[in-house]
Amino acid sequence: TRKIILDCDPGHDDAIAIMLAAKHPAIELLGITIVAGNQILDKTLVNGLHVCQALNIDTPVYAGMPQPIMRKQIVADNIHGETGLDGPVFGPLVRKAEDKHAVNFIIDTLLNSEGDITLVPVGPLTNIAVAMRMQPKIIPKIREIVLMGGAYGTGNFTPSAEFNIYADPEAARVVFTAGVPLVMMGLDLTHQTVCTPDIITRMENAGGPAGQLFSDMMNFTLKTQFDNYGLAGGPVHDATCVAYLINPDAFKVQEMFVEIDVNQGPCYGRTVCDELGVLGLPANTKVGITLDTAWFWDVVEACVRQYH
Ligand code: BDR
Ligand code: CA
Repeated sequence: TRKIILDCDPGHDDAIAIMLAAKHPAIELLGITIVAGNQILDKTLVNGLHVCQALNIDTPVYAGMPQPIMRKQIVADNIHGETGLDGPVFGPLVRKAEDKHAVNFIIDTLLNSEGDITLVPVGPLTNIAVAMRMQPKIIPKIREIVLMGGAYGTGNFTPSAEFNIYADPEAARVVFTAGVPLVMMGLDLTHQTVCTPDIITRMENAGGPAGQLFSDMMNFTLKTQFDNYGLAGGPVHDATCVAYLINPDAFKVQEMFVEIDVNQGPCYGRTVCDELGVLGLPANTKVGITLDTAWFWDVVEACVRQYH
């Protein structure tokens, strides 16, 4: 099994990543750390706790950084709504976060580890970057970072930049220059996981609380994807990182040198990927190219069924 810390900003697709990570036998989920991103931290934290409560997931949840490192905060309310997880209606919230700060949890867990823990950040990289700056000794302890963010093609928040990187480009730069083995699931890959109405029906039929939650969430995502991009389905970006750790062979990746643009211009927050190797620099990232989509939805469905 792969030991992971899931760092997220729930978020619809984040919730599906949690669903997979908490139940799949190939994954040992040590903790869920929350960061500001899709919405402000108070909201992403509440959403993460609601998801855990609704699905009876008892993994500890830690609140992390409420602000990006340097830039003015942005949120993705156009995609995820006012709450950051619009759509599902949850009962009263009883689940609580741990007292420890997410950054301290990440540092302590890595320092006490055998170097066998993988970080899975699927929101802005603020928590991970702050942990690296606060305690650099964690860096050689990280087995791998499998993140959702960026694109070698077009962005989704600016023509150049994808939301997670654009929301904290300086943090992303810290992470991409740390020298840790990196796997980047960017939009080029995650757009192959578009959830269409037939997939929603399939998960509803799989039933249980996870089938219901999947449907309530993705029906909202369908609306915002159509309103924002004219698309007839919504990608479940973040779940691809967990899927990769379940079976990397279901993915085609390409090693590239990737650099984060932190200049205040039209490419601010772009993951500049040297796809053709024109710079001649050593690759620092495995970039996701394609995945076996049929296999992916089978895994999601199997996990949904686990929650009965
Ligand atoms: C990423 O941004 C967020 O809105 C999603 O949760 C995902 O992590 C996609 O660009
Ligand atoms: Ca996310």
